[in-house]
Amino acid sequence: MPGIKKKRAVLTGAVMAASLLSLTAHAANKQQIEEGRRLFNQNCVVCHQPDAIGKPGFAPSLSNPELLSIASDKFLESTIRDGRVGTGMPPWAHLGRKKIKAIVAYLRSLSKVPNRSAEVDAEPAAHGDPRLGKTWFEDICATCHGKHGDGYEAGGTGTAIGKPGFLNKASDGFIRETIKHGRSNTRMRGFSGPDGLANLSDQEIDDIIVYMRTLPKKQ
Ligand code: HEC
Ligand code: HEC
Repeated sequence: MPGIKKKRAVLTGAVMAASLLSLTAHAANKQQIEEGRRLFNQNCVVCHQPDAIGKPGFAPSLSNPELLSIASDKFLESTIRDGRVGTGMPPWAHLGRKKIKAIVAYLRSLSKVPNRSAEVDAEPAAHGDPRLGKTWFEDICATCHGKHGDGYEAGGTGTAIGKPGFLNKASDGFIRETIKHGRSNTRMRGFSGPDGLANLSDQEIDDIIVYMRTLPKKQ
């Protein structure tokens, strides 16, 4: 049965080629992560600290599992590229796309959480009452994020969540998940459930998001 033998040989060849390809992909990925680590240590470590753990009131953690699980590559790459105007986060467009992608690959290697950003970004838009949201925001969020969400410059540890640099890149789902679950090992606690600083309902969280979308006009 020479036909079968030939088929088998072709198959073995295909399997070998495929595993060689995946080996090469693996090596390329490792190389990309190494390149990202080098670039991170060169450019970002002064603010975001070794292993990207962040420093309260100075620069957020970038190795945080809750952040990495909901942040899309697009969110991370465009935030790095454009920085955040009016905050301590400078733009890095001059590094170019390839290097920025390598940095993101490195950040993702710091916490091997599943990336559910597609699902989170596809969540429905927030609907609610901005006047109620304002009350919650000023009562609970302003202590750390500033009255208008202006961030560290207001004296707290929370980032500039009322400025366009954040709001133009974050989906309602991203904001909703962050408010619900917080970010472990940072001052950002979850606001849903009995362990939260306040046990906000889904509707109250949406009221806050709707209000946050009006903040850039108040800066
Ligand atoms: C005790 C302080 C504190 C309070 C209160 C607080 N936050 Fe935060 N929040 C933080 C910190 C700190 C971070 C960034 C985490 C880090 O430093 O790594 C953060 C991050 C966030 C982010 C992600 C921003 C980004 O740059 O990606 C959102 C959204 C957010 N907070 C919303 C809220 C809202 C809405 C409230 C009120 C319901 C609130 N926070 C209350 C401290 C706080
Ligand atoms: C001079 C200090 C500084 C340097 C250098 C710096 N950052 Fe930042 N970065 C910040 C600050 C401050 C923020 C938070 C801004 C705000 O309040 O919204 C930030 C925010 C970020 C965020 C958003 C995180 C989140 O929680 O949403 C990312 C991603 C980021 N930086 C990546 C980088 C990368 C990658 C580099 C190096 C190429 C870098 N940063 C260099 C200060 C810095």
